[in-house]
Amino acid sequence: VGVLIKNGEVVTATDRYHADVRVADGVIVAIGRDLKPEPFDRVVDASGCFVFPGAIDVHTHLDMPFMGATNKDDFRTGTIAAALGGTTGVIDFVIPEKGQPLLEALDLWHAKARGKAVFDYAFHMAVTHMGPTVKDELHRLVHDHGITSFKTFMAYKGALGIDDGELLDVMLQTRDLGALVTVHAENPEVIDRLTRRFLAEGKTHPKYHPLSRPSGVEGEGTHRAIALSGVADTSVYIVHLTCREALSEVVRARGDFRDVMAETCPQYLLLDDSLYDGPGFEGAKYVMSPPLRSKADQEALWHALEHGFIQTIATDHCPFDFEGQKTMGTNDFSKIPNGAPGIEDRLKLIYTYGVREGRISLNKFVEVMATNPAKIFGLYPRKGTIAIGADADLVVFDPTHSGVITARESHHNVDYSLFEGWRYQGAAAQVLVRGELIVEDGQFVGEPGFGRYLKRAPMPRGQKRMLMAEAQAHTHL
Ligand code: URP
Ligand code: ZN
Ligand code: ZN
Repeated sequence: VGVLIKNGEVVTATDRYHADVRVADGVIVAIGRDLKPEPFDRVVDASGCFVFPGAIDVHTHLDMPFMGATNKDDFRTGTIAAALGGTTGVIDFVIPEKGQPLLEALDLWHAKARGKAVFDYAFHMAVTHMGPTVKDELHRLVHDHGITSFKTFMAYKGALGIDDGELLDVMLQTRDLGALVTVHAENPEVIDRLTRRFLAEGKTHPKYHPLSRPSGVEGEGTHRAIALSGVADTSVYIVHLTCREALSEVVRARGDFRDVMAETCPQYLLLDDSLYDGPGFEGAKYVMSPPLRSKADQEALWHALEHGFIQTIATDHCPFDFEGQKTMGTNDFSKIPNGAPGIEDRLKLIYTYGVREGRISLNKFVEVMATNPAKIFGLYPRKGTIAIGADADLVVFDPTHSGVITARESHHNVDYSLFEGWRYQGAAAQVLVRGELIVEDGQFVGEPGFGRYLKRAPMPRGQKRMLMAEAQAHTHL
């Protein structure tokens, strides 16, 4: 049975036109004017709506133990919330404990996702140590398990963090495997010193979280990550970039024709560091790393998106309850679990405050939400665009739907929202994954377990990833 989406306005990273889209057997089979339904086709009326490729969130943490707590969304609640927001795929992070075999951690993450995810998913593997078996495991992960992106943490000293020598090793090995290294770029030594200093002075309030990791800490980390990737002669992707100091490192590297890519998140585009001064312990809601920055940083990030210096917007969804989890740090800001929710809100926020306010175009919106994530991480053109033969992961987006974000009406499994009271205009009305409607009229109608694990293929060494993805598209569809 097929689905015919009638009378919508199809938007891709490059085009925008009125057309009907017919899907069958999980893929897009026809795009054209006045398409007629085949017998038994389900017809979806998209009059007045945009038809976007399903958005991909390449930075999520579902069911992750971190800093003494386990975050609140699992692959069921997290992907349902995401789907209701118009996301149809995530790349989540497998996080091995120090010393744990990477393949053992992968099994654990497969078990977390299996039977729960409502749409397709892939994994990045975090490399949190460089034990003797890691080199062999990286090879097996790429070639047998389809994991072609690896995460490294410069931050979180003594926990997930690795040192520069280990980071260089990961870069050299992933380069040789045709895989991509991604970096959480903050200087751990400086964070450690400043944190101890504040605590020794009795400065324990959440507002000392951003003061213990100012933007120079991220600028330095970003500089070093890019420099090391140059030494290793490989591409690098900087996750959750927040500030001008880090951005200027990316801009300079791209100006030198380096394959350096960067991601930012809605919270860094829309929320600023004045929120840490909120009453009582409220600031803990915004304790994430890197922290929220200034309004001037937000403006710089928007410009960088518009001009292609930042390629993706992901959420870094990592939700901890305010009551009982964030409160672990009531007397010590360094014990507040780092991270915040946002998986459901990405499209409506960026459409409202990015597209409607004229900061980015509608095509750029699709590019940074769906197309670039798919290209950079090896899912394109099966995911990330609207084309004949691509998976029918589609969002019918109603630009007239308006509302206000509240924790009570959000579908994530956590007791607050970063965006409480924020107005939005435009929201996902219908969402399809491989041709199945999983959201209808803004209600979830899908099934946990429908999501499939996506194996990805490595890319030839020494090629720019986004260009390579486009070249491969011709052979894949
Ligand atoms: O504070 C954050 N961002 N928590 C999640 C882990 C990470 O660093 O991405
Ligand atoms: Zn991070
Ligand atoms: Zn993260």
